[in-house]
Amino acid sequence: MTNETKQDRVLIFDTTLRDGEQSPGATMSHNEKLEIATLLDEMGVDIIEAGFPIASEGDFQAVSEIAKLSKNAVICGLARANYKDIDRCWEAVKGAARPRIHTFIGTSPQHRAIPNLTMDAMADRIHETVSHARNLCDNVQWSPMDAIRTEHDYLCRTVEIAIKAGATTINIPDTVGYTTPRESADIIKMLLERVPGADEIVFATHCHNDLGMATANALAAVDAGARQIECTINGLGERAGNTALEEVVMAMKVRGDIMPYHTEIDTTKIMNLSRRVSQVSGFAVQYNKAIVGKNAFAHESGIHQDGMLKSADTFEIMRPQDIGLSGTSLPLGKHSGRAALRAKLGEMGYELGDNQLKDVFVRFKELADRKKEVYDEDLTALMRDSGAGEQNERIKVKFLRVICGTEAPQSADLILEVDGVERQETCQGDGPVDATFKAIKEIFPTSARLQLYQVHAVTEGTDAQATVSVRLEEDGKIVTGQSADTDTVVASAKAYVNALNRLLVRREKTGPDADVKMVKYTDVG
Ligand code: KIV
Ligand code: ZN
Repeated sequence: MTNETKQDRVLIFDTTLRDGEQSPGATMSHNEKLEIATLLDEMGVDIIEAGFPIASEGDFQAVSEIAKLSKNAVICGLARANYKDIDRCWEAVKGAARPRIHTFIGTSPQHRAIPNLTMDAMADRIHETVSHARNLCDNVQWSPMDAIRTEHDYLCRTVEIAIKAGATTINIPDTVGYTTPRESADIIKMLLERVPGADEIVFATHCHNDLGMATANALAAVDAGARQIECTINGLGERAGNTALEEVVMAMKVRGDIMPYHTEIDTTKIMNLSRRVSQVSGFAVQYNKAIVGKNAFAHESGIHQDGMLKSADTFEIMRPQDIGLSGTSLPLGKHSGRAALRAKLGEMGYELGDNQLKDVFVRFKELADRKKEVYDEDLTALMRDSGAGEQNERIKVKFLRVICGTEAPQSADLILEVDGVERQETCQGDGPVDATFKAIKEIFPTSARLQLYQVHAVTEGTDAQATVSVRLEEDGKIVTGQSADTDTVVASAKAYVNALNRLLVRREKTGPDADVKMVKYTDVG
C-alpha cells in the first residue's frame, strides 16, 4: 500500500453494475453495461464491480468484456464462498489488466443460520475459499456479509483469517442498512486495533441506505480509517439503495477542510453518468436528490434571471459546473440547426457519430415543432428514447388514437408492429391509458403484471413532455420501461411496450442460475 492510499487517498469502488443492477427492475442490457463501465472508467473510478459471473451467462459475458475494455480501473467480479463461483469469477475477470476477485459469506447470526454452518466450519470455509481465490489472483477482496450485525469477536476472528489467507481488501458491509455513523466508525477502529495484519490491507465500507444514513456511515468509516468506499451512481440498489457515489465524492471535495481525503474522480462527469444510469435502469432520480436531483441547483435560475447577486457563494456550496452541469442552460428551438444540437449534446456528455446525429436530429425537429423550447431535460428524454432501439425492439408502437373525456366509454385504437407484422386492436377502458394498456395486452398477451405506472413532467408548461415509467413483473423477473412524449397517453403506450421488449430480452437469458439475487446469497454453494 502506498503512503498516499494510507493517509488521504480514498478509493472509489463502484458497484452500480452489480449491487445497483440487482435492484428489482433495474436490469440493464449488455451494451448498456459496457457503456456505463466505459463512462465509469473515464470518470476515474478505481474499481468497477462489473457483475456476478456465476449468476448468468449474460453476467459472465458482461464482466469478461468489461474486463477487456477497461483502460484504468481494476475490474472486479463477485463470488460466493465456494470454488465454483470463484473459478467462474476468475474466468470472467482474468482478461483485465488489473483483475480482482471479491468473495463473501454472511457472518452474522442471521446469515450463518441459513447455510447452517457452525462458527468453526464457517471459519474453515473462509480460509479455504480466500486462499483459493488468492492462488488465482493477487488482488482479492473479502466481505463478511452483514458485518455490522456480526458478533465483534467473531468478526475480528474471521477478518484475521481472511487476511492470513491472502485478502488484500477487507470490506465491511452494512447489508441491511442498520448502522449509524458512530457505530460504523467504531467497527473500523476496532478492526484496526484488534486484528493482526489490519494495517497491511485496505478496509472498505459498503453501506445500504435503509435508514437514510448510507452517505454519513460511509464517511464516518473513512474518518476511522477505511480507505475504500463502495457506492453506486444515484445510490441505485436494492430496497433504499447503496451509498450514492456523487454524494460521498462531492462531500469530500466540498468539505476538504474537515475531511482531508481525495479521490481521482473527475466530478464534471457525474451529471452525465447520473442521467445515463437513470435512463438505462429506468429509475428516475428524485427531484430533490442531493447533487444530481433536478432541484439540487434550482436556485441557479433565479440568480441568473435577476442578475442581482454578485457572489454565488451566498447560496452555493458547490458550482453546477463542478458536476458537469452547464451554468447557463439556453433552450434550443425549431430553428436550431444540427451543429447547435451536436454542440448541446456534446456539453451534456453525448458524443454522437454522424448517422446517430442524423436520427436524433429528425426526432429533435419533430419535438421542436410541437414544443416551443427544447430544454436539456427534453434532450435527455429524447436520447433515452433514441437508445431504446438498440435493444432490437420486437414490438413497436405504430399508431394510437384515443377517445377520452367526461363521457364514457373511453377507448383506444392501437396498431403495434410485432416482429415486423402490424396488428390492430380497439379496446375500451377506465380512461385512455387503461384502454391503451388493454389493447396492448390483446395484441401481445403475457402473464406480466403491472407493478408501477408513474408519470412526471420533464419540464414546466402545458406543452411539457411527460416521462412515463412502467414496471412489469413476470415469474419473478421485473423490468422497467420508460418513454417520453408531449402526449401522455402515447408516452404511456411506448413505456409499456419498452418494458415488454426488456422482458423479452430477459426471457432469452438462459441458465439455471439466471437470476441469482440476494436470497441465493445465503447459499454458500
Ligand atoms: O450488501 C452486501 O452485503 C453485499 C455483499 C455481497 C458485499 O452487497
Ligand atoms: Zn450490498
